[in-house]
Amino acid sequence: MLEVNNLETGYSYLQVLWNVSLKVEQSEVVALIGPNGAGKTTILRSIMGIVKPWKGSVKFLGQDITGRQTHELAKMGLAFVTEDRNLFSGMTVMENLLMGGFTIRSKEKFNKTLDYVLSLFPRLEERKKQYAATMSGGERQMLAIARALMLSPKLLILDEPSMGLSPQNVDIVFDAILKLKSENVTVMLVEQNVNRTLEIADRAYVLENGSIAMEGKGEDMLNDEHIKNMYLGVA
Ligand SMILES: Nc1ncnc2c1ncn2[C@@H]1O[C@H](COP(=O)(O)OP(=O)(O)O)[C@@H](O)[C@H]1O
Ligand SMILES: [Mg+2]
Repeated sequence: MLEVNNLETGYSYLQVLWNVSLKVEQSEVVALIGPNGAGKTTILRSIMGIVKPWKGSVKFLGQDITGRQTHELAKMGLAFVTEDRNLFSGMTVMENLLMGGFTIRSKEKFNKTLDYVLSLFPRLEERKKQYAATMSGGERQMLAIARALMLSPKLLILDEPSMGLSPQNVDIVFDAILKLKSENVTVMLVEQNVNRTLEIADRAYVLENGSIAMEGKGEDMLNDEHIKNMYLGVA
């Protein structure tokens, strides 16, 4: 579904990524883990056309999308929930979801999508009229994911959805991702919560200093010595 080949890029003269290749197949949950500053967000920005690749290519559904504009990618079915969530704080839950689905032309399709999204996140249904600004961190993250899902994306890309959340809210977010997985939604997940992430990921890539250092099945990585030492805090 998504293929990144030999990607190299950076900011002005500073190179951040070296020869990064990865892929995401239909219905997979693929994780990208690695230390702060390794370049995880830069990979996502390159996929989404926010950062221009210097070398290499990005393919989505068999088409070369290297350097394409973000709104075109959204139309093709790529949804990106950024680290900062990027909600409309002064709007209610329902207004945020309306904004998320504003390009849906048919009323019937819109209502169907809305029902589906609210069934995934019943808490949002209860809080339709609440302002996004007054919601808890976990609820805001749910809303950000729900808004992205209003476009029925083929691939949902999440950048550190559990960042800065309380343990209880982290649970809410991971439960939501598990639910999406059970619905066969394809997800690419960047996370610092390595243990939880490897538990739910079909496959994972480890990015260190801008290069892919390891790749494998989520469950295999949980038992890997390097992963245990570096990321799980157990020797
Ligand atoms: N807009 C930017 N301008 C210049 N350097 C940046 C910018 N964004 C990120 N960087 C640098 O690129 C490197 C990788 O950052 P990032 O992709 O955000 O890492 P991660 O998401 O893995 O924490 C870091 O050294 C960071 O300081
Ligand atoms: Mg990041």
